[in-house]
Amino acid sequence: MRFFRSLPIILLLGCIGFPTLTYAQQPLLAQTPPMGWNSWNKFGCHVNEALIRSAADHMVASGMSAVGYQYVVIDDCWQGERDANGNIQPDAQLFPSGIKALADYVHSRGLKFGIYTDAGTKACAGRSGSRGHEFQDARQYAAWGVDYLKEDWCNTGTQNPESSYTTMHEALVAAGRPIVLSICEWGAAKPYLWGKEVGGNLWRTTGDIADKFEGKDDYRIGMIDIVDMNAALYPYAGPGHWNDPDMLQVGNGGMTPVEYRTHFSMWAMMAAPLMAGNDLSAMSADTKSILMNKEVIAVDQDSLGEAGRRVWRDGDLEVWSRNLTGGYRAVVLLNRGTTARNITVHWTDIGYPDFLNAQVRDLWKAEDMGSAKSSYTAGVAAHGVVMLTVKL
Ligand code: GLA
Repeated sequence: MRFFRSLPIILLLGCIGFPTLTYAQQPLLAQTPPMGWNSWNKFGCHVNEALIRSAADHMVASGMSAVGYQYVVIDDCWQGERDANGNIQPDAQLFPSGIKALADYVHSRGLKFGIYTDAGTKACAGRSGSRGHEFQDARQYAAWGVDYLKEDWCNTGTQNPESSYTTMHEALVAAGRPIVLSICEWGAAKPYLWGKEVGGNLWRTTGDIADKFEGKDDYRIGMIDIVDMNAALYPYAGPGHWNDPDMLQVGNGGMTPVEYRTHFSMWAMMAAPLMAGNDLSAMSADTKSILMNKEVIAVDQDSLGEAGRRVWRDGDLEVWSRNLTGGYRAVVLLNRGTTARNITVHWTDIGYPDFLNAQVRDLWKAEDMGSAKSSYTAGVAAHGVVMLTVKL
């Protein structure tokens, strides 16, 4: 009897004595969408240590790190064979100095270091995956100094995505180093519904992005089609947990500067991670001016962390709005069509009263456009945007 009466206290002490880390107790990671560079979109499997060092050098030299780009991530194809004890090793031909030395180099440039694995037995290009080795791999990543892990979804057979990513999250927690977990399940299992609970900091909502405005390119999906797939998911984004409509193609040559400005603007409106995917050692003036537009980046990184949404659409013409701190709105006037058009944002579309004056700033022109009452109209290029901040 006495034992049963004290059972609640025993249980309480048990909890205090043997705490398990809950989601809320994890270190605060990715409070704004992660920014960085990833090797995949431009280099695919052609990675090596010189390339990654060079990306880190150019991230600093170009000024990208000064405007917020931080993570240098090696995507697929760095993995070698596991050793006799099952420890994952880098491909010795491609990474002869080892991953620890590379991570140290990236850190020495004031940046953070990311790596890639897969939840299945093998990763997408056929190299080793982490299935059955999660705790061992997470310990290895922590020992190397990894700060960011992208975990892909190839060769997963009948695995359950939710439990597979939970295992990796628990492994990262057990390894004791704060590591951003980037879930790359491509959206089929609706990771936006469970990604936060299993400890993911970002989750892919779509298949891979093509370097084109619209339509498919092999298995890859056009940029504006990706926007459509991600658009309705805005309620699931917030500090520490973001929708990931895939990495940037800005600067890879398949779109015009106008289209790349649209790409970058829409990613900022959707509070998407900004992972550059181009060759940082050979950037045109246009590419630099897009990737380093501080005012557009400030929208992406706004601390409210509220993703924007489409508030009006008529055929090829759209208006998007995003609430920012301080009562500001970010607004995009998007023209998906092939001829220039005027687009109007009405204050009532963005939650402002119709009868008030608001200050308008054009972020790509970097110009204050004065004050406007009830609405604002601008000419928008074919496949282009006008991106604004509006403030009552
Ligand atoms: C998948 C992912 C890509 C990339 C490749 C690597 O396609 O979605 O982002 O990581 O695998 O093989």
